[in-house]
Amino acid sequence: MEAATPMPPADTATEKAPMDALVIQGGRRLSGRVAISGAKNAALPVMAATLIAPGVHKLRNVPDLRDTRTFAAVLGKLGAKVRFEGDLCTIDTTHVNSVEAPYELVKTMRASIYVLGPLLARLGGAKVSLPGGCAWGPRPVNLHLAGLAAMGANLEIEHGYIVGRGVKLHGTHFTFDIVSVGATAQLMMAAVTAQGTTVLDNVAIEPDITVLGEVLVACGARIDGLGTRRLVIHGVRDLKLIDTTIIPDRIEAATFAAAAVITGGSITLERVIPDHFEAALRKLEEAGGNVVREHDEVTVTGRGRPEAVDVTTQVFPGFPTDMQAQMMAVASIANGTSVIEDTIYLDRFSHVAELQRLGARIELKNNVAVVKGVEKLSGAPVMATDLRASAALALGALVAEGETRISRIYHLDRGYEKFDHKLTQLGARVERVQE
Ligand code: UD1
Repeated sequence: MEAATPMPPADTATEKAPMDALVIQGGRRLSGRVAISGAKNAALPVMAATLIAPGVHKLRNVPDLRDTRTFAAVLGKLGAKVRFEGDLCTIDTTHVNSVEAPYELVKTMRASIYVLGPLLARLGGAKVSLPGGCAWGPRPVNLHLAGLAAMGANLEIEHGYIVGRGVKLHGTHFTFDIVSVGATAQLMMAAVTAQGTTVLDNVAIEPDITVLGEVLVACGARIDGLGTRRLVIHGVRDLKLIDTTIIPDRIEAATFAAAAVITGGSITLERVIPDHFEAALRKLEEAGGNVVREHDEVTVTGRGRPEAVDVTTQVFPGFPTDMQAQMMAVASIANGTSVIEDTIYLDRFSHVAELQRLGARIELKNNVAVVKGVEKLSGAPVMATDLRASAALALGALVAEGETRISRIYHLDRGYEKFDHKLTQLGARVERVQE
């Protein structure tokens, strides 16, 4: 086990990490076993929820990622003490004495906005930077704000910050006009200790959200309807301390499953919950992959060139937008033409131009990409533009002829733990170099 390490200061955790690149020599079939890490998107809201009750919280299976480190830095700014020992993250929120989540951190990771609800719940005040845009366009937070306003939070926008003072949250009935993962988590965290009952309609049922609810219930929260589109939350006075194990990362698992199919290899994903990425597995089966599901393992085997497959992203349990880019990499060498549509993020296509640099034939019209599969891709220097786009480029590079250099790999490091090590372990030729 690694020695306990206090969190590095915010700037080393976020802005000053070296600009690494990945150099991948394509053409190897990947095979073997890979242990899937804890889910980033499940860990972040649970880390935020530690703010609600003062004391020492324990989170296991927390992935060591730029995003979890950034979130720890945000919690540190608020006065919490965060320690990582291997995959155990201990968060002491006894002395949370600031309500400010600064722009420098929030701009690097939108999920920092998760501290808003818990701060209002515990301290009645918050000053959280507006996250701004992201690599694939504007990502509004209006639902977070409207929901909190309905619960009695008189939030103002002041100098780029969302500011709330003297807030006393109360129950409400709020219907989301769009299903939002983040806003559901936000309102759930705000409601558990609010006065009275909160009814939330059209909520997200992504596993990360349902599990957040289960963690809160284990701490004494009263939440009915977890896993359905309506939550009824009866406010309680206090919550107990969190002691939990983060669920496996379904997107990491699906990405390695795609690596098996695209390279015609065979990969066993260890420590997974197959139901959580069933939609991706089904599409990979349609693409010709053979999938064997076991209790907490899945083995995916590719059979030569994949078949074309049409994909439309949907909220859970549909095909996740977080796998759209990786599936496009698979489609780019498929036998036939695939149509890939993103209905969740209409502009999430920054990987298209980079996949084209590898020789992919993709025509993009609004939120629909038509991918004409080519027999082979060819290695080229490309640039990672966001987290999942980076994963798609890595998948393309694994089958491209020759060498691909993916720069700005810090995007990949936001969400994939030890990605290059795991690929190497599966037989890929991957090297991390400094740019
Ligand atoms: C989360 C995930 C992200 C994933 C996304 C969709 C985390 C940390 N991130 O992001 O990886 O791609 O879910 O599964 O868990 N929207 C609004 N107003 C809002 C909030 C959202 O209009 O206030 C819209 C968004 O623009 C988008 C849709 O709702 O079109 C879904 O977004 P949302 O589910 O909120 O995504 P995030 O929680 O930001």
